[in-house]
Amino acid sequence: MIGTDFSQAAELLRAEQLVAIPTETVYGLAGNAFSEQAVTDIFRVKNRPYFDPLIVHTSSVDRLTELVENIPPALQLLADALMPGPLTLLLPKRAQIPDLVTAGLPQVAVRIPKHPMALQLLEMLEFPLAAPSANPFGYISPTNAEHVARQLGEKVPYILDGGPCTVGLESTIVGLDEEGEVTIFRKGGIPIERIEEIIGGKVRTIAHSSSNPAAPGMLKSHYAPRVPLMLGNLNALAQQHRDKNIGVLSFQERVPGIPDNNQIVLSPAGDFGEAARRLFAAMRVLDEMHFDLIIAELLPDQDLGRAVNDRLRRAAAV
Ligand code: TXA
Ligand code: MG
Repeated sequence: MIGTDFSQAAELLRAEQLVAIPTETVYGLAGNAFSEQAVTDIFRVKNRPYFDPLIVHTSSVDRLTELVENIPPALQLLADALMPGPLTLLLPKRAQIPDLVTAGLPQVAVRIPKHPMALQLLEMLEFPLAAPSANPFGYISPTNAEHVARQLGEKVPYILDGGPCTVGLESTIVGLDEEGEVTIFRKGGIPIERIEEIIGGKVRTIAHSSSNPAAPGMLKSHYAPRVPLMLGNLNALAQQHRDKNIGVLSFQERVPGIPDNNQIVLSPAGDFGEAARRLFAAMRVLDEMHFDLIIAELLPDQDLGRAVNDRLRRAAAV
């Protein structure tokens, strides 16, 4: 069921059941992070492999201390500047967090969502919420309540409807690497330039892996539509595949010679935020039109363009 009833959502979560929740990035499939049963159900409903750890959500920087042993100074700077917001920090976990949540890793991913309904719900609860994106494993993340209902509807007792997500891409994941350097583990809703501004220097980025379980959740193929997606120069791709029925996902301009109805332009004005906000919904619409092929182009590699490109590359990976 979809609705805006906080007390029903809270009641279900207290009973170790799952509730889909809105956040500013994407919708999450939430359960009590301290409950092995709820956490096991999250993996089951998403069909997610157990080696891919979950993010734990809480309502304030103060409450982070319930989850983590300490916060290194560089990451504290980021927490103070960017939380609540589309930032996830990797920090040494407290024993109370089940190993299932972190896939046995010593660090837990923590985040404070900047969405009034998510924050209100988290404040009401006595426990934090483990929540991955509310999509079947490997598919496109949901950016409105309807997306969740269409894919997980019968499997989730309640979907809290908080409207369309304002960021539209998952959080940026930041931690320290083995040498203690600030490192981006997933590009996302906070641009790298902003992180570097706060840290006062360059940060590292780790590459995605196609099959390495030692780098959990960094799987190359992800966020993928069911129809094959190819990246490149749109005019050249359209020419090359002119015998096929193709859908087009472009940044600012349409491709001549292809029906308008088969094309989605992410941001005619070239606004990275708008493109990010619309990306996943656009991928879904095109996927549901059952083309032979979707062709897409990369954005300039700056600002949120980098995170959009990361999702496009992973959607195209086979
Ligand atoms: O914006 C977001 O982060 C959304 C909303 C719902 O908060 N959540 C989200 O969760 O994107 P999910 O499960 O789709 O992606 C979580 C990713 C994992 O795939 C993994 O890459 C990383 O977070 N992660 C989680 N815990 C980790 C850990 N202990 N160490 C390393 N990476 C971790
Ligand atoms: Mg996800």
